[in-house]
Amino acid sequence: PNIDKSVREDGFQAVGTVQELEEKGKISDKIADILVVRNLSNNSLVAVNPRCTHQGCSVDWKQEDKIFACPCHGSKFDLDGKVTKGPADKPLKSYETKEEDNLVLVKV
Ligand code: FES
Repeated sequence: PNIDKSVREDGFQAVGTVQELEEKGKISDKIADILVVRNLSNNSLVAVNPRCTHQGCSVDWKQEDKIFACPCHGSKFDLDGKVTKGPADKPLKSYETKEEDNLVLVKV
């Protein structure tokens, strides 16, 4: 479905629907460089910039391990974006996110 992705007054913008998130297990918005996933242990949403802080590859979300893993040189990041395995030494940028009216919203 087409959703309004413009930035709202509160600074949040829609990146997809909750249904899309449930179906695909993640929402990625290439234009804005946002990856939203659900932390199933507390049902909260997590939004990060998937660009690895080592050399800029796109990290993958690993639901089973609850980590973001970089395919290029093996860096790993936890749900807060913190590095748990190098060579990356800086955290992934993370964003405020929430769900509202069946939309997933991110504040970039
Ligand atoms: Fe991600 Fe090197 S670019 S580990």
